[in-house]
Amino acid sequence: MDYQHWKIERDNDDICWLHLDVADSSTNVLSAAVLDELSEILNEQAQSLPRGIVFVSNKKSGFIAGADINEFTRVDNYDDAIAMINRGHEVMDKIESLPCVTVAMIKGFCLGGGMELALACRYRVMCDDRATRVGLPEVKLGIHPGYGGTVRSILKAGPMAAMNAMLTGRLLQGRAAKRMGLVDDLVPERQLLSAARYFVLKRPHQRPLALKDRIMNHRLLRPIVAKQMRKQVAKKARKEHYPAPYKLIDLWQKYMDRPRLMLKKEAESVAELVTDYTARNLVRVFFLQEKLKSQGNKKDFQPQHIHVIGGGIMGGDIAAWCALRGFRVTVQDREPKVLAATMKRSMDMFKKKFKKDKAAIRDAMDRLIADHKGLGVPHADLIIEAIFEDKDVKQSLYKNIEPQMKDGAILATNTSSIPLEELASCLQNPGRLVGIHFFNPVALMPLVEIVRGDNTDDAVIKQALAFGRQIDKLPLAVKSSPGFLVNRILMPYLLEAVEMVGENIPPEMIDKAALNFGMPMGPIELADTVGLDVCHSVAHILSEAMDIELPKKMDFMMEQKKLGKKSGEGFYKWQKGKPVKNKDAHYGNLKELEDRLIFRLLNEATACLREQVVDDKELVDAGIIFGTGFAPFRGGPLHHIESEGVQLMLDRLNQLHQTYGDRFQPDSGWQQLS
Ligand code: NAI
Repeated sequence: MDYQHWKIERDNDDICWLHLDVADSSTNVLSAAVLDELSEILNEQAQSLPRGIVFVSNKKSGFIAGADINEFTRVDNYDDAIAMINRGHEVMDKIESLPCVTVAMIKGFCLGGGMELALACRYRVMCDDRATRVGLPEVKLGIHPGYGGTVRSILKAGPMAAMNAMLTGRLLQGRAAKRMGLVDDLVPERQLLSAARYFVLKRPHQRPLALKDRIMNHRLLRPIVAKQMRKQVAKKARKEHYPAPYKLIDLWQKYMDRPRLMLKKEAESVAELVTDYTARNLVRVFFLQEKLKSQGNKKDFQPQHIHVIGGGIMGGDIAAWCALRGFRVTVQDREPKVLAATMKRSMDMFKKKFKKDKAAIRDAMDRLIADHKGLGVPHADLIIEAIFEDKDVKQSLYKNIEPQMKDGAILATNTSSIPLEELASCLQNPGRLVGIHFFNPVALMPLVEIVRGDNTDDAVIKQALAFGRQIDKLPLAVKSSPGFLVNRILMPYLLEAVEMVGENIPPEMIDKAALNFGMPMGPIELADTVGLDVCHSVAHILSEAMDIELPKKMDFMMEQKKLGKKSGEGFYKWQKGKPVKNKDAHYGNLKELEDRLIFRLLNEATACLREQVVDDKELVDAGIIFGTGFAPFRGGPLHHIESEGVQLMLDRLNQLHQTYGDRFQPDSGWQQLS
């Protein structure tokens, strides 16, 4: 019989090779249709049992990326959710109970549902290359493994390693997966087929779970270990915001003695989670991320050589990041000693990223060249300027380099605040200037704003968006207006926090209020981390262009030279890179503080929508989540307003307006929300 997504091949050794090649998709995902077909195929195979079944992917992109996330968005009640999960469970159970040997032959990504399918097989062989990774990243979508992966991963890898992998959602490379026992063998690509065949024919003995893992799984120990796990999780995610990891720990603690019951409970738990507020919003965030990715098409620009000017905080890291992503990069600074520091910092970045892979570190270092004299300028397809934030200094540099630039090369500026039109006015060809605005720290922040000046050529915008994808960032096209999208929306929130400090509200309580909302870091700690001088200059420029007032406290801090983490003291004193917080700090009504902070941010987000700083609502939300870390489980500022109820939220803003004055004046953009 012919199938749409699977191809069956039986060889001379009577091994059945099941090739997955999901129709009309570049990636293999386990949609309902794919699972239904598989279920039929397994019934068919059971009629004339082969010696073994090997699961293989025919896609270049990898083995199986997971369940079909689109299907999650279509279930909105428990009954539909449990039916969806049970379908997966039945297929995995069927694989597990086949009387013949089953092997998953893993090359490329094997994630979530794909990994659960692999775990249902008797053996897993994995390709030993950089692109092959396995993992159970479901927590990132607000759920936990739901196709039997909780029980089966723990039985294979032991509770500590498996729970750690599921609670963090991190992806594992071959060696780590093998060490944990998640896969049985790790072989070079050329030996994959013969390894899979070997497992079918020889059925090697599998190592049992180590004694310490069996002890950890013991019913008397589990409550103690689970308590520790909850403590660890609480450092990163609150239960009321992210329930999934806590439910996963409960599941293990309560049911590990009875794996069949645990499988049933796993399904029920995921069915509850998947229809819940957090998972729905995290799935939304997943699609927002896909939307940002789709803004740039890698094929639109394939630069060979990138030249970065300015080797400071930003330029140095931008150069290193581009080299890390595989580009040949020259980095120029007027100060040779800055370049020496840049090279050292780059080395640190590569070591962090590539860990023990010395060849990868060496290759990245080879691609990065310190270029004090700017010899790279005439060779570069893209020049990224990240020198002082000063219009005259930038323009005099542009005048100097433009005549040396290759035809068709792009000039990008990392400016945070100078209008592109002003910068471009000195150029012979102003259409080649675009903003590529990175965030600090470059290695950690996923977003780059691609700034379209009035003169920027459309083709240059397209190329800049493509470049964002080339370096594995999420590119967001924004209009050239003060603060672009992210700083503009973040600034009123930070300024409100500074205003509160001026009212003698303890910084610890202000930060706590923001954490209560779900921000990853409080605004005061954030301002100290970014540097109050940087905040001050961005705020200043924004205040000239927009109607915002700067809190007096801000100037006072600048006069005192209290710049934050970098000077050892800002709103907090800093010791060993950490703020010293007063544990006894107290404030009565934290919800009031939270509202003051968040409503200023929300109000500015509606203004950006009205002014079309980006193309649509979803892009406002995406920019703020990936540019600031805005509570992802809330799905973005505009989505948050709409899901709480626009009128209700507007009423609250009006109250704040009456109490605190015009900085809370609702923007007319609220009318565009529904
Ligand atoms: P920085 O002061 O750390 O580095 C600037 C570097 O440029 C210095 O090493 C300086 O020697 C070099 N430089 C100055 N004029 C030069 C010239 N004519 N030729 C060659 N080198 C020259 O500054 P930072 O923080 O890296 O900022 C650079 C740009 O990035 C600015 O436009 C800033 O607004 C923007 N930016 C800064 C962010 C931050 O968090 N610091 C975030 C996003 C953008």
